Amino acid sequence: MENTTVRLAVRPEGEINDRTFVIASEPVPSLSEGDIRVALEYCSVDPAMRTWLSEITSYVPPMAIGELMRSGGIGEIVETKSADFQVGDKVMGRFGIQSVYSGSTLDVIKLESTNIDIRHYLGGLGGTGLAAYFGLLDVGALKNGETVVVSAAAGAVGHIVVQIARLKGCKVIGIAGGAEKCSRVIEEYGADACIDYKSEPLAERMKNLCPDGIDVYFDNVGGETLEAALDNIALGARIVICGAIGEYDNLDSVNGPRNYLNLIGKAARMQGYVNFHFAEHYETARADLIKWNQEGKLQFRDQTEQGIENFPAILKMLFAGKNNGKLLLKI
Ligand SMILES: NC(=O)c1ccc[n+]([C@@H]2O[C@H](COP(=O)([O-])OP(=O)(O)OC[C@H]3O[C@@H](n4cnc5c(N)ncnc54)[C@H](OP(=O)(O)O)[C@@H]3O)[C@@H](O)[C@H]2O)c1
Repeated sequence: MENTTVRLAVRPEGEINDRTFVIASEPVPSLSEGDIRVALEYCSVDPAMRTWLSEITSYVPPMAIGELMRSGGIGEIVETKSADFQVGDKVMGRFGIQSVYSGSTLDVIKLESTNIDIRHYLGGLGGTGLAAYFGLLDVGALKNGETVVVSAAAGAVGHIVVQIARLKGCKVIGIAGGAEKCSRVIEEYGADACIDYKSEPLAERMKNLCPDGIDVYFDNVGGETLEAALDNIALGARIVICGAIGEYDNLDSVNGPRNYLNLIGKAARMQGYVNFHFAEHYETARADLIKWNQEGKLQFRDQTEQGIENFPAILKMLFAGKNNGKLLLKI
């Protein structure tokens, strides 16, 4: 049995390019006692992958040259030497970008058979759905009726943020690139308005749409977007730093915010987080997300792209805004 792998070949400077990854076919190793072999079906494709390629320690150490591209994935067990897993079980784990995982069961979760599309466990019920949930409700301490602004609002985290804020009775303003994405944010996810940052003046539009100021700004992009939001915060605002995709290609010289002193006069706070800071609450969060989904109040949008050999081009789609909702790779 052969395994197709995607490994880091050369650290990119700026955008990833043709030399960044090496894609190869490798023989699968034999299993040790307790191990499983998984034929992967879907892998998660995430902006954070770009940060792991740089020689900068974030919440995880940087990837080593030659290391398998890290990723969460879902697949089916095809061979097992573990008493806890059977051939045919659907499982989720940190399997990396490859076609066949062979190894330990550490952090591998069995997905019980339900009517939930298993892909959602990498999206709305996975890292991006959980980031929206914890970011808005715990870090953002959202209260009913507040005004929420979210960037990358048509993306994996963003479209869940818009919908949760709506179901909590908040006024929601999205920010997205292009008229088509903006109309989806309003019509499909329920935002009150959406600013097209590619053609509209951000700070001015925020001021008009949020005359009493922004109570919760949920940031996915950083840079000028974060600065425009900081110029429009309300007294007691919370700025949720979920991510900063606009900065990931240049992590050694991240921009701004030049106007962070606005936090003083507005008694506001700005706080970052990673999902695992809330690990003990994953099950509660997933139960809420499933409940809202089944009540028809929360939809999970996925975009599935085919072919492990296309992984570099698929990862680049996130940075070019070519995804709607959660981007997945079908192996
Ligand atoms: N803290 C955590 O635990 C956690 C967990 C998951 C994700 N995150 C972070 O959350 C953010 C969103 O991740 P995601 O998986 O949901 O990705 P995503 O929003 O589905 O995809 C990225 C989107 O960002 C926008 N974008 C790309 N480059 C941009 C730029 N230079 N300026 C402004 N917008 C840009 C694009 O949308 P447009 O077409 O609208 O420009 C693109 O579709 C990322 O920063 C990620 O690192 C954090």
